[in-house]
Amino acid sequence: MAKKRIGILTSGGDCPGLNAAIRGVTKALYHRMGDDVEIYGIMDGYTGLIEGEYRKMKPSDFSGILTRGGTILGTSRQPFKTIQVIGEDNVDKVGNMKENYKKMKLDCLLTLGGNGTHKTAALLSENGLNVIGLPKTIDNDIYGTDVTFGFHTAVGIGTEVIDRLHSTAASHSRALVVEIMGNKAGWLTLYSGVAGGADVILLPELPFTYEKVAKAVERRAKNGHLFSIIAVAEGAMTKDEAKLKRKDRMAQRGGNVNVTASVASFIQENTGIETRSMVPGHYLRGGSPSAYDRVLATQFGAYAAKLIADDNYGMTVASVNGTITANKLTDIAGKSSYVPKDHQLIAVARAVGISFAD
Ligand code: F6P
Repeated sequence: MAKKRIGILTSGGDCPGLNAAIRGVTKALYHRMGDDVEIYGIMDGYTGLIEGEYRKMKPSDFSGILTRGGTILGTSRQPFKTIQVIGEDNVDKVGNMKENYKKMKLDCLLTLGGNGTHKTAALLSENGLNVIGLPKTIDNDIYGTDVTFGFHTAVGIGTEVIDRLHSTAASHSRALVVEIMGNKAGWLTLYSGVAGGADVILLPELPFTYEKVAKAVERRAKNGHLFSIIAVAEGAMTKDEAKLKRKDRMAQRGGNVNVTASVASFIQENTGIETRSMVPGHYLRGGSPSAYDRVLATQFGAYAAKLIADDNYGMTVASVNGTITANKLTDIAGKSSYVPKDHQLIAVARAVGISFAD
């Protein structure tokens, strides 16, 4: 077997399970290919590929990392926002990445990341590099896979946050508004909200009205429940805002990019119920992956090693109906997975009395 040189990078926002996936793919490669594989860790995402920051890794570098949060390789946001229109600067960046790929004499580049990472991975693949993607994100919004690693862990953390808010909200007879990450897709808020027993859930996919949020809180109070929990996705928007482009929506909000604080003030002013808001933010992305995410990341990693062994490039690993498989990078790049309005869990949530204020 000819020796293979594999470069690996993690890009975009970190999430639990990145190290488990790095470990899964590298262990599976060493197991399959022994001394016939060399692995290069590229530092801080695509930035490391552009700037030539990488180092040869040893098998021992990948030991003891299964349970660790974050990424041992470091990460950074995408090197360019709009890759469909490649400006001069971007041409240079793509050129640098190709050059460093050649300099490292890579046979394959593994990219672990979310939507932005996959767009760049598809671009590099179209530019002749052998690329394989692995889908990570707490947002669970990558097209073509039912689940991404990081999501399950974040649902657990979001649920715990809501659980803890319950006892303090109940003790004080307050409404508590909690903002859950997810700028464009509401998967994390929907699952954490249902798991934590939120009373109102606001998602980007189901625009809301302030009046309906306040009514839901009032209805509970009339029924003797003097406290309420409102789970708000970071990207939630009102029905009026939904008519606007994102840029105009943000401008209208005067730089206050999310609605959590406004929802809290509206409830307090219109119901008289004392209301507080809180934003767990990056807390949702930190720490050790759940057992489910460790298993998923290991499965994805082992599958990526198989794709490499088969010289099957230009692909990204996916889980479809419980089966680990792969999609073409170019088929999924630039697309996202949003919560469908008729998703079963939305129907279930409505059935148990959760309001979406839509
Ligand atoms: O994509 C993952 C995510 O955590 C989103 O839910 C959130 O909107 C965003 O990243 C936050 O990005 P940053 O870490 O760059 O502030």
